[in-house]
Parts: sequence; structure tokens; C-alpha cells
Amino acid sequence: MENVRYGVIGIGNMGTSHSGWLAGGKIPGATLTAVCDIDEKRRAWAKENLPEVAVFEDYKELLDSKLVDAVIIAVPHYLHPEMAIESLKRNINTMVEKPAGVYASQIREMNAEAEKHPDVKFAMMFNQRTNPLYQKVKEILDAGTIGELRRVTWIITSWWRTQKYYDSSAWRATWAGEGGGVLVNQAPHQLDLLQWLCGMPSLMEAHLKYGSHRDITVEDDVTAYFEYPNGATGTFITCTHDALGTDRLEIHGDNGKIIITDSKCVTVKKMDKPEDVWNHELDFRQMLALVKGQTQQKLYTEETFECPENWDQQHIDVLINFTNAIAKGEELIAPGAEGIKAVEIANAMFLSDWLGHAVTIPVDDELFYEKLQEKVQEEKNRK
Ligand SMILES: NC(=O)c1ccc[n+]([C@@H]2O[C@H](COP(=O)([O-])OP(=O)(O)OC[C@H]3O[C@@H](n4cnc5c(N)ncnc54)[C@H](O)[C@@H]3O)[C@@H](O)[C@H]2O)c1
Repeated sequence: MENVRYGVIGIGNMGTSHSGWLAGGKIPGATLTAVCDIDEKRRAWAKENLPEVAVFEDYKELLDSKLVDAVIIAVPHYLHPEMAIESLKRNINTMVEKPAGVYASQIREMNAEAEKHPDVKFAMMFNQRTNPLYQKVKEILDAGTIGELRRVTWIITSWWRTQKYYDSSAWRATWAGEGGGVLVNQAPHQLDLLQWLCGMPSLMEAHLKYGSHRDITVEDDVTAYFEYPNGATGTFITCTHDALGTDRLEIHGDNGKIIITDSKCVTVKKMDKPEDVWNHELDFRQMLALVKGQTQQKLYTEETFECPENWDQQHIDVLINFTNAIAKGEELIAPGAEGIKAVEIANAMFLSDWLGHAVTIPVDDELFYEKLQEKVQEEKNRK
């Protein structure tokens, strides 16, 4: 295929950016041919600003229009799987904005539909996977540089959002409209990176706060502890009400450590011997001397890389990869079937807090859905 014709479903904040990149020629071999939104004002905006592009109110009409080879789904989260299923059924290449959905069972249905169409490309907009910084970290981890995972710690409290942000759309920060708060809107990027870099945890215990310092019903403050099948442990802390937030990820292996600050700077400390070896070789005095740098042999060598973040380019690069996957069979950076993993982690965090104890991953899909419906009902009763 020489030219991939795109449709964008949902031209709010994110869909407008996607439309702009496509219409502005930022994606070689791709053109924007159609957009869709249920909001009349957004359609009027499209008619004025994208005169060459067909504008639809009903996404199924867009899918049936024969005007598109691929779509980007950029609507509220509950709709992602249902729209993706309709698109895949029509053999249209499908890119879904994060998160893949709200609850795992609806995503399993989407993935099952994708499996029926192996020639149709299905991908997730996990734009942090094209961030050169996280690509570097993945390369280091995959090369085994820091050895076997022992601990991962991510504090990502730099997702500051004010009340006006929450009040900007009716679906935001509601159980019924969005399916949660920070775990389904802001943190899916980090939850995907966590599993992309370190693998899936197998046990989760989390404590969530709902409407903390904000007038919303969903979670905006999360503290989670988790474990991996090899016994490694992890913590993940996120919130949207810290004006002076922190973004620091530390991945500790038995042979070194990676420290990432502000998603901009990576420091890699590679130990001269695995910790296990030092553990058996050194007495307390020798250990102190090594730590204080008083020995000929060094505990570790250190390298630092700076990778300034380029938010637009990350998305553009995912779209270039998706277009090349359709046109030339390039391997996908973020295959759609992997979208479920970040959702499974988020679902486990929610369920652990709702049940008041640790849960194993994957959680019981039916129980999660039942508890989520209780939240939706409580929210309705409050109104
Ligand atoms: N990858 C990123 O960096 C990033 C950043 C922001 C948002 N997002 C994701 O993009 C998606 C949209 O978020 P947003 O901030 O643009 O929200 P938004 O509310 O600004 O836009 C959503 C649009 O979808 C439209 N819509 C709703 N239901 C529809 C339907 N049935 N058919 C057609 N259009 C419909 C709405 O009218 C609205 O214009 C979400 O999944 C969000 O998590 C991703």
C-alpha cells in the first residue's frame, strides 16, 4: 500500500493532535481522509480546519465509508474496545489510544477479535515506548547489563491536574464515564512501561485515595506494593495533586541499577561483580572499604545519558511505525494485544484496595467488573 488513508474517531484534545500530524504531512505515506465526533462543535471545527476531509457523526458510518485503511480511536476509555472490535471486523487497521479499555474482560474480547484478523494491524498508542530514553533503558535491560531484577521503585507524582481540568469534560474523573482517575488516564503510560521494561508482577497490594484534595469521585492518589514471580519487589506511587511532583524510576538488579529522573536523564550503575558474589566474599570491613571507594577494585562504573523529552515526536514515531507496519510489514513497537497488561495492573491495584488485601495478577475479571459497577452505582446515588 503506497498511501495509508486514516480516519480519526474522536477529535477532542488528542484526536485533534493526531489529525494535525496526519493532515500536516508529518507521517510519510499517510493521509487524513476522515474524522468523526459526536460533538457538533468538534465537527464544525473539522469542517472549517480540515476542508479536504470527510466528517462523520457516527463512527460506524466512517468505518463503512470505504474512505479509510486505518483508524485512530481517541474517545473516552470505555468505548475503546467496542469501537476497535467494529473496526477490526471490517478489516480496518486499528490504533487505540491508551488505555486499551477500563476492565480486562472487554479487552480480552477486543484481542480475540484481532486474532481473527492476523493480516490487520492492531496497535496501541503507547507513545513512551518511542521515547529514546525508555528505548535506551529497554536496550540496557534486555542486554542483561544490570542482571536479574530485584526491585523497581517508581514515584510519578508529577501528573498535576487542577480542578478546572477535571471540570473540563463531563466524562473525566468519573466511574461511569472514565472508569477511574489517575490509573486509567495519566498513569497507563507508566504502567505499560513498567511491564514493558520489567515484566508483569504477579501479586499486588495497593492503597488508593479517592477525591483527595479534588472534588472528584475517582482515585487520584495511589500507593502500591507488588511482587514479581522471581521474588523481586516493586512500589509505584502516583497522584495528581502534587504541584511539586517527582518522577523517579529506579530499577535495581543483582548486578547494577538504572535511575531515571524526570523522564529525561538515565544513570546506569554497573557493578563489577554481582551482589551475590560480594556477599560471599567480603567481611564487614572490606564491604565498607569498597562502598567508600578505598579499594583498588570499584563497586561500580557509572554512565549517564540525557534524552530531552519530545512529546509530539513520540506520537509521530508511533504513527510512522504503525503506517510502516501496514504498508511494509514493519514490526509494531506497541502491538494492540499488549494493551491489556497495563489494564491488568491497574485493575489489580483497584481490586486490592476495594477488597482490603493483596491480590494475584491477573485478577478475577468478573469480581473486578462487579466491584466497578458498585462504584458506578455509588456515584449515581450521590448525584
Ligand atoms: N497518548 C497520549 O499522550 C494521550 C494524551 C491525552 C489523551 N489521551 C487519550 O486519548 C483519548 C481521548 O482523550 P482526550 O483528552 O482527547 O478527550 P476529549 O474529551 O478531549 O476528546 C474525546 C472526544 O471523543 C468524542 N466522542 C465521545 N464519544 C464519541 C463517540 N461515540 N463517537 C465519536 N466521538 C466521540 C468527544 O466528543 C470528544 O471530542 C483517551 O483515551 C485519553 O486517555 C492520550
